[in-house]
Amino acid sequence: MNEQKYAISEYHDTNQIYAKLNGLISQPMRPVKREKMQEFLNYFDTQCKRSKELTDEAKKFIPGGVQHNLAFNYPFPIAIEKADGAYLWDADGNQYIDFLQAGGPTVLGSNYAPVREKVFEMLQSCGPVTGLFHEYELKLAQLVNRFMPAVEMFRMLGSGTESVMAAIRAARAFTKKKYVIKVGGAYHGWSDQMVYGLHIPGTGRLESTGIPRGASASTEEFFPNSLASLKRHLIFNRIRGGTAAVIVEPLGPESGTRPVPFDFNQKVRELCDEFGALLTFDEVVTGFRLGMGGAQGFFGVKPDLTVFGKCISGGYPMAGGVGGRADVIMTFAAGIGGTGERAYIGGTLSANPLSCVAGYYSLLEMERTNAPVLAGCAGDRLTRGLQAIIDKYGLPFVAYNEGSIVHLETSGVMLLDLRNPIRLARELKPRKHMLEEMGAAYMSQGLITLAGSRMYTSMADTDELIDQSLNKFETVLAACV
Ligand SMILES: Cc1ncc(COP(=O)(O)O)c(C=O)c1O
Repeated sequence: MNEQKYAISEYHDTNQIYAKLNGLISQPMRPVKREKMQEFLNYFDTQCKRSKELTDEAKKFIPGGVQHNLAFNYPFPIAIEKADGAYLWDADGNQYIDFLQAGGPTVLGSNYAPVREKVFEMLQSCGPVTGLFHEYELKLAQLVNRFMPAVEMFRMLGSGTESVMAAIRAARAFTKKKYVIKVGGAYHGWSDQMVYGLHIPGTGRLESTGIPRGASASTEEFFPNSLASLKRHLIFNRIRGGTAAVIVEPLGPESGTRPVPFDFNQKVRELCDEFGALLTFDEVVTGFRLGMGGAQGFFGVKPDLTVFGKCISGGYPMAGGVGGRADVIMTFAAGIGGTGERAYIGGTLSANPLSCVAGYYSLLEMERTNAPVLAGCAGDRLTRGLQAIIDKYGLPFVAYNEGSIVHLETSGVMLLDLRNPIRLARELKPRKHMLEEMGAAYMSQGLITLAGSRMYTSMADTDELIDQSLNKFETVLAACV
């Protein structure tokens, strides 16, 4: 029997998911019943006093009192003190099942000891940074190339955001073309040019407070899954400077929140070839979570450029990198004096020994343990269980997964878009609030999710733990009836 290599055991039927999602947003919301919600919120007042004290104080020194977009803020942020495997503990000593997993990087589970030991060794021998070359930079680049042969050369950077910036810069330098096309609603970090069509397709510069018009003037978005719209942009751009890159998350925007049909990436590849644009896969989430070959291995599509983040340093700091065709990546060749015309990138702490050793051993351990597949099995079990609860209570909610990325859409806010601006204006706020409430309700039962609608599973999620979590989910979902 062939060993399963990827986290996705069976690719979903995208049409079926969209039919369910459209069903969800075409009917009134089904939030938690008011008296039950009050009960869930009481948890925070009675059990999370230290978190409240800390985050109230933090508001005086930190804008909004919290620094991560993913830190769940309703009714107030929880202060976390300890992380281990599938669990987190807060400042009041409460234990949670952790389905945030730091936003994706820790496929091995949080604070995985064998990697931590290698990091300790590096700290003792070398410290976190020297500013000079270390052998682990080479080892990591070789390893990434072994897993993803399309990544012929690799440059390590500080974050996914930086790495997207670098990929776009290389694409423009190499092709001498101007435009970058992304999918509406997709998040590719917060650089000036990518805060465009964020979260909600068709919204262009809606969120670009503080960003000059010129900075995003060469960024375009196309509607999720609309290859016809992508082609129109490519045709139009041909007469006004050309398209340097098309950047996609291979599972669809926001880790597959708007999923793509299986052949979507291949079709984008063909369009890129026709118009001479570089196909750029943002594998910040999928890079190694989906399998050691990434989404490119799973879909069998070879991108010109690949952007990494999260898993590339196993959840340790400075998680970013860009790789791909050697002729394109060579535009980054560093060194004093340089090589003439080059795309300039840098970073004092980029490619430091600590990040490289953490990334190297995390990836090796993920390969050895088959962690992406184990995490994917946990995702399958969680999704099956959620679906059974949804069916049991006759709720309109939608559960589906791409391996270890599990979606549980209850408010449908992520599915609103500008094609129906009246509904968007009317429903955005209340549906967003419902999502916040769902996240808080799950947390009151000891479950941490990503913003109330997404769960990342890890190798540490045993069958028993998933079953325990399903009981907790059921307490909340039953309260929506
Ligand atoms: C698909 C994708 N691209 C880019 C980024 C940005 O990465 P970072 O947060 O490391 O800057 C993220 C972050 O969540 C992401 O999910």
